[in-house]
Amino acid sequence: MYDDNPTIANLNNDIDERLQGQVYDDNKLHVKADKRYYIESYGCAMNFSDSEIVASILAKEGYASTKEMTEADLILVNTCSIREKAEETVRNRLQVYNSVKKKKKGTLIGVLGCMAERLKAKFLEQEKLVDIVLGPDAYRDLPRLLANASKGERGVNVLLSREETYADISPVRLDSNGISGYISIMRGCDNMCSFCVVPFTRGRERSRDAYTIVAEADEMIQAGYKEITLLGQNVDSYKWSNPESEEKVTFAQLLVMVAKVNPKVRIRFSTSHPKDIDEEVMYAIRDYENICKYIHLPVQSGSSRILELMNRTYTREWYLDKVKKIYEIIPDCTISSDIISGFCTETEEDHQETLSIIEEANFIMSYMYHYSERPGTLAARKYSDDVPHKTKQRRLSEIIKVQAQSSLNSNLKDIGKTFEVLIEGDSKKSKEQFKGRNSQYKVIVFPKHPGLSPGDFVFVKVEQVTSGTLIGSIVDQPTLA
Ligand code: SAH
Ligand code: SF4
Ligand code: F3S
Repeated sequence: MYDDNPTIANLNNDIDERLQGQVYDDNKLHVKADKRYYIESYGCAMNFSDSEIVASILAKEGYASTKEMTEADLILVNTCSIREKAEETVRNRLQVYNSVKKKKKGTLIGVLGCMAERLKAKFLEQEKLVDIVLGPDAYRDLPRLLANASKGERGVNVLLSREETYADISPVRLDSNGISGYISIMRGCDNMCSFCVVPFTRGRERSRDAYTIVAEADEMIQAGYKEITLLGQNVDSYKWSNPESEEKVTFAQLLVMVAKVNPKVRIRFSTSHPKDIDEEVMYAIRDYENICKYIHLPVQSGSSRILELMNRTYTREWYLDKVKKIYEIIPDCTISSDIISGFCTETEEDHQETLSIIEEANFIMSYMYHYSERPGTLAARKYSDDVPHKTKQRRLSEIIKVQAQSSLNSNLKDIGKTFEVLIEGDSKKSKEQFKGRNSQYKVIVFPKHPGLSPGDFVFVKVEQVTSGTLIGSIVDQPTLA
């Protein structure tokens, strides 16, 4: 639907579902590298961000990255468990890695991330050619497990931690376009949405030292980044207490601290939980021009009855009140969502409520999925997965259709407006056109002008739209909408 979406994952944009594992390559690393690793990442942006931490740990061990799986001494896959399909993708990829390993004896295979955490040692039993299984909180142990694996000892570390934030590790940004990058500000999740496996795979919520976040932002800006996305499963519940003073930092305060590093650099964040986003955050977005006017606020369902079964802790009305408050405080803000079709016991009536909330809340886009039961979750234990697959699919396609219309309606209102756009690169369709995004996270394509390049900010006036893209041309005089 969004033809110009970037290949980098939004926190909720599961790349695995599009079968686009991302591969890092690095010949720029100035370390004495005598070994090579190949890494593929699946799942959410937190996983991609973790792969950059792993890359940093590996660099210190004398590993450089390669895009050629066949020339790697170590093949790593950072995995996702969010839906059955995500795990299937990884299982298929393991077959491919195994065939490489059979041809090149001595190649080590490591499984990282959420699926490693969920399946633990079972991985070594099920997948005979896997050498290392490492959960999201155990990456510092990679050098030890690598040393053991090279002696033929296969190893597992899936210990979850209450403290680990990798705060002191400076990620190696290998995949990046050098324009937009992520900073993890917290790990884990203390919510217990009944459908969700994340609290089991990523453990308890913990917030990272605010000053290490600001320092990382500063480093990225020095390196030329123009847009920074703060990442967490539930960013609004970020809370850091300085152990050396009485100081406490909330998410709104953190946003402002990062926004102040350089007012010319855009700040985004993901993901917000409707129950936790507060007015303090909304005022920060309103008051700082470089904090983007865009909130990803997953609703999951439009039915209060289903929301209760999902343990989302809000009702339809409460969600819509929150949305109203956002539009009141930040009139030019856009909102996007995540939606699940066919959760346990969902009726046609519940489904209709989901369709109508898309338009009522005016979502500019949604990441939409059909419910996939995950072992061990509250829903798997308590409720029966009783909506037939075909019904889930049909409802999902109806949701997609209504969302496309809602996106189009929102885009139509932008015709004639001028937006500041950060150029990200060539448009997918034409080398003659650039694509970028406005503060509201909408993709805009426009004809190139000489002298401009990715990373530049320009003002673009919107002339036409589709449901996924604004189309316009550069104007000199900013008349900001
Ligand atoms: N922390 C974020 C989302 C993390 S998972 C939040 O709370 O919004 C990303 C999205 O995957 C979720 O928002 C949800 O829509 C979807 N999801 C999670 N578990 C799922 C499941 N079992 N089946 C289908 N979709 C699921
Ligand atoms: Fe999962 Fe809910 Fe936590 Fe999001 S807030 S990661 S959906 S448990
Ligand atoms: Fe992310 Fe998937 Fe884990 S969505 S937190 S990688 S289960």
